[in-house]
Amino acid sequence: MMTVILCLGSLSEAQSQPQLNLMPMPASVQTGTGQLLIKQSFSVQVTGARDASLDEEVQRFQTVLSRKTGMPLYPAPPAFASLLIHAEHRREVVQKLGEDESYELTVTPGGANLRAPNTLGILRGLQTFLQLVQITPDGFAVPAVTIKDQPRFPWRGTMIDVSRHFIPLDVLKRNLDAMAAVKMNVLHWHLSDDQGFRVESKKFPKLQEMGSDGMYYTQDEVRDLIGYARDRGIRVIPEFDMPGHATSWLVGYPELASAPGPYSIGRTIGVYDAAIDPTQERTYKFLEEFIAEMAKLFPDEYFHIGGDEVNGKQWSANPKIQAFMQAHGMKSNQDLQAYFNEHLEKIVAKNHKIMLGWDEVLHPDLPKTIVVQSWRGQASLAAAAKQGYSGLLSYGYYLDLMWSAARHYAVDPMADAAANLTPEETKRILGGESCMWAEWVTPENEDSHIWPRNAAIAERLWSPQNVTDVDSMYTRLNAVSLDLEWLGLTHRSAREQMLHRMAGTADISALRVLADVVEPVKEYNREDLTKAPISLQAPLTSLVDAVYPESDIARQFNNLVDRFLQSWRQDKGAEAQMRSWLTLWRDNDGKLQPLLGQSLLLREDLLLSQNLSVAGAVGLQALDYLDKGQSADNSQTAFDSPRAQETAFFAQADKPSANLLLMILAPVQKLVNVSAGSPPH
Ligand code: ACM
Repeated sequence: MMTVILCLGSLSEAQSQPQLNLMPMPASVQTGTGQLLIKQSFSVQVTGARDASLDEEVQRFQTVLSRKTGMPLYPAPPAFASLLIHAEHRREVVQKLGEDESYELTVTPGGANLRAPNTLGILRGLQTFLQLVQITPDGFAVPAVTIKDQPRFPWRGTMIDVSRHFIPLDVLKRNLDAMAAVKMNVLHWHLSDDQGFRVESKKFPKLQEMGSDGMYYTQDEVRDLIGYARDRGIRVIPEFDMPGHATSWLVGYPELASAPGPYSIGRTIGVYDAAIDPTQERTYKFLEEFIAEMAKLFPDEYFHIGGDEVNGKQWSANPKIQAFMQAHGMKSNQDLQAYFNEHLEKIVAKNHKIMLGWDEVLHPDLPKTIVVQSWRGQASLAAAAKQGYSGLLSYGYYLDLMWSAARHYAVDPMADAAANLTPEETKRILGGESCMWAEWVTPENEDSHIWPRNAAIAERLWSPQNVTDVDSMYTRLNAVSLDLEWLGLTHRSAREQMLHRMAGTADISALRVLADVVEPVKEYNREDLTKAPISLQAPLTSLVDAVYPESDIARQFNNLVDRFLQSWRQDKGAEAQMRSWLTLWRDNDGKLQPLLGQSLLLREDLLLSQNLSVAGAVGLQALDYLDKGQSADNSQTAFDSPRAQETAFFAQADKPSANLLLMILAPVQKLVNVSAGSPPH
């Protein structure tokens, strides 16, 4: 008995250590004693290798430190530096895949020391230091700690689609800041698709002139963004999606198409039939010139050619293409696409680039140098690795599918089919990329659709594979989320503005209560629920566009319910908290209805608001029954009617309404089930 108590004692002691708000969690962390106070005289001294991006990073570091602490800094002379920085070598001029990003950070009450083999590692270590800064009873401080850190995967990216909705440079820049804060190192820039061609080509100006509605990046802007990313240790990979997803190219250059034009920019969500014609010489002549131009503009060694979702309809319908396929012994459209990719690969290689494509490009005729980006699962990633191809995982990291951070976090590039690879095959898995497809994002809500969830994916790709504790992840994710605001991210603040727009009033407290407990429908349900073609020009100003993809309140309420039920209903603290939430929700509809009625943008949320109130009332009644130790089975319910009606309510309220899901419904139903003498689920 004594042993058990001692064990519990030391266990809780270990848990009561202050949580280090680090994300991604470093490879090795040893906590020390005491803390380094951050004073206004905080200063940095750099010795060893330096380059312009390091000097700028140190300045940015001081700016963010000042912002985070609210203290103007008046750095002491270098001799009294609080943080010593030393790198052995300069980083590469063009950042390379696999460049050393490791660092060691030692913090004692007397000062901090950051060392790295390469200035790139210093960039990573400075972000770690910033995350460690926290308010304490003695002021801002960094706990004494020794960190030895390096990434698990060399390729940790975010793909941003700027075709479906154009995302201006300033929004991209702040997202690069956020990526750097969580040590991501690749921006994959999805620059062309059916719905827009977003880069200036001087060789083929009709690409942007006719394919973009004037919303594209000039080459100067592209260079500016690449420099901005490089300063933060982030590579920029352009994607020009072909031969499918290519309508926007064909508006200005219909002669490249597999069916007669004219073509116009895609205005609705969906995969279009338009495909580049792989059978004609002029296609390759065009691509020779175009890729040579873009290969110069984008310095990275990798070049993404898309390759996904070619539906082949235009190829099948074109007798000339069919005859070509027959003459070349091609049996399927996949064979024709492989023929196209082989040609493309030679052009890309001639420009000293490595070709990267979505997993449809995998074909035995392609050289082993290409990299396959899997959006369809670890199976295709593993298949590629077995055949000798390098690969990246994006399946499971689609931010547009509105999954929870926990669900993304559980996806590991080396899991499932990839778990049984040989060590050599394993090395071919370079990492992964989250994907922000832009059907439902605008510059306004882009940040909130990426952050903070993207930080959980960043951790999966940086931290050791055994860092998997979900509660710890959420605690640290919340800290990161607040930190991102110091970088100018609007992932939290945009919701507030959008709610004000919808309500047209200053007081949006009741609307916020509703917004806090709903989530957008998952997967592609928003497309599925909308029967008509969905215009990309329509404003995205509904509640579903404003709310966070993941409801923290609903998750916390669900945890409360579990805690309460696991305590055999003895946890009175949990019960009191549940009651105050349920009461808030029960009474909310009365406050919100007047607001909803007077706004076209909010009218569709009437049912949702009513459902929240009913759920609150039903949950309170379930707790009353449980308190009285009486089963609700044959009793009256909140409806003053038989329990069957309650069941009908849950069935109705469980359905999406205004493209939103009421996320507190499931935990309330648990309470109701237990109060009725049934199992919670
Ligand atoms: C993709 O989602 N079509 C890459």
